[in-house]
Amino acid sequence: MLKKCLFLAGGYGTRFLPATKAMPKEMLPILDKPLIQYGVEEAVEAGMHEIGFVTGRGKRAIEDHFDANYELENHIKGTSREEALQSLEGLIQTCTIAYTRQGEILGTGHAVLCGQLLMGNDPFGVVLADDLCLNEQSGVLSQLAEVYRKYKCCVVAVEQVPTELTNRYGIIDGLEQGDGTYLVRRLVEKPDPAEAPSQLGIVGRYILVPKIFEMLEQTKPGYGGEIQLTDALNALARTERIVACPFDGIRFDCGSIEGFVQATNYCLQLRQEQPN
Ligand code: G1P
Repeated sequence: MLKKCLFLAGGYGTRFLPATKAMPKEMLPILDKPLIQYGVEEAVEAGMHEIGFVTGRGKRAIEDHFDANYELENHIKGTSREEALQSLEGLIQTCTIAYTRQGEILGTGHAVLCGQLLMGNDPFGVVLADDLCLNEQSGVLSQLAEVYRKYKCCVVAVEQVPTELTNRYGIIDGLEQGDGTYLVRRLVEKPDPAEAPSQLGIVGRYILVPKIFEMLEQTKPGYGGEIQLTDALNALARTERIVACPFDGIRFDCGSIEGFVQATNYCLQLRQEQPN
């Protein structure tokens, strides 16, 4: 059973300075909801109610967000603002949340390794909240969970990325299977377009099996001098099946100002189309 989900929220968000000097980038709102809450909602929708956060210094606002605030709740009680907090309160009640800190920012793989104690010996979802994934029917994590139930192995979400942007993503080399997924032969972190084995880029949603921790422990610093999850998955792919899954839905790179604004405009339009 997939019940756990790990959120990697240790990074600095330097692309959003000065906004992110004192505020976690994961708390930047798309309309009126912080990015990280979209991710937690996606996890809960996929049946993952045991949430782990890998945070770091300056990230306390995330803990406060997913906690009661009696003074505020009391203050807005009986006013029109009361319902603005209700869905968050409902979300908090359905999950248990545990936190750990990534003392040094040494890469996506290192962050996952920091979450080992929280995830234990079970398969788990991973969310990079910078990637906002929206889909009207089932969310991307739900789609990956379904693929996991079929193959019982690591699953990574992928989408076609423009050739000139392969150096922003983990890129997979895969063999298409009959059901629309790919059997992964190799993964490369942020290859130059000339070196990229395909244009299938990894999006920040994964299902990982506990064996990944063993691989991560042996993974040497790679791209950017950091310990890359992509490299650990590549090592695992030599002995175990890994499946890449194109997904239904739209994804915004909210780690960039351009993607963030696009996501905001998209969500605003959706909201304006909603009947009151
Ligand atoms: C991370 C991963 C990369 C993946 C990307 C998706 O990179 O290392 O493989 O394609 O997330 O957003 P980052 O964007 O954190 O540099």
